[in-house]
Amino acid sequence: MNDDRIRAVEAFYDFHPISLTQILQALEAKGIKQDKIKPCDLLPHDQDHYGGVAAVDRIIAHAALGSDDHVLDVCSGLGGPARYIAMQRGCRVTGLDLTASRVEGARKLSELTGLDHLVDFVHGNALAMPFAAGRFSALVSQEAFAHIPNKAKLVQSCAQQLRPGGRMVFTDILWRQKPTPEDEAALFQGMRFSEIASVDGYQRLFAAQGLRCIDVLDLSDAWTQILIERHAMYRSLKAQTIQNLGIDHFERYDRAYDHFVNLFSTRKLGGALMQFANG
Ligand SMILES: C[S@@+](CC[C@H](N)C(=O)[O-])C[C@H]1O[C@@H](n2cnc3c(N)ncnc32)[C@H](O)[C@@H]1O
Repeated sequence: MNDDRIRAVEAFYDFHPISLTQILQALEAKGIKQDKIKPCDLLPHDQDHYGGVAAVDRIIAHAALGSDDHVLDVCSGLGGPARYIAMQRGCRVTGLDLTASRVEGARKLSELTGLDHLVDFVHGNALAMPFAAGRFSALVSQEAFAHIPNKAKLVQSCAQQLRPGGRMVFTDILWRQKPTPEDEAALFQGMRFSEIASVDGYQRLFAAQGLRCIDVLDLSDAWTQILIERHAMYRSLKAQTIQNLGIDHFERYDRAYDHFVNLFSTRKLGGALMQFANG
């Protein structure tokens, strides 16, 4: 069951409207050639979470990231947050992502912007991370854990990567009200959200791993507004998405996003930043 869900998530991200191809096309349309891309040129395009680089700044501040850290970005996508953290703090960042095409995209964009000496990207599943225990001083993640079934295993897997004294800061989509089976099924069908947690659920799971909850920041209202704008942005990419992925794909995604945004507007879904410390 979980394996099918994991494979479905990977297939979903292989056909996501934000991709390496779409980013390179958008830069070319601005007159920026591949051999001239600067890190700052990517920032409006490579952050696949809510709130752009301001949201990464908030994570950097909560995790108190510094140049000595080795950060693991769990579910790193096209590597936008990893590159931004490396640029802002001069620290090493490793990204882990399930979707091979996203890992290749992250590596390519890092090479093109000359940041590949600070960031590296590993293909793998957050439920079975291919690293030695205690390798990282900080873990971060944004808008990805909702895709991952078996939160107890996910939290255990993350806790194992943290050194003593390490910090974990992530943002995630969370239920604010008990979901209906129909909403859960539609969120998996349309958006590949395999299991959405709640603030209380995460607090219990991290406590079971011996991590202390330091802060919880409710982002639900801000995200509702951002999602409405993001849906409009996806609609503005209609011609590009149809050209790259076809009309059926565009329409299916558009319907699913509409349902997702509606769950935020009716306060059934929300989001939060959660900060934990190991020791
Ligand atoms: C919305 S994107 C966020 C990417 C990145 N955090 C960012 O903010 O730009 C979610 C990412 O989670 C990855 N993902 C989903 N399930 C995963 C899993 N089980 N293990 C690792 N990565 C996963 C997807 O491949 C996708 O790249």
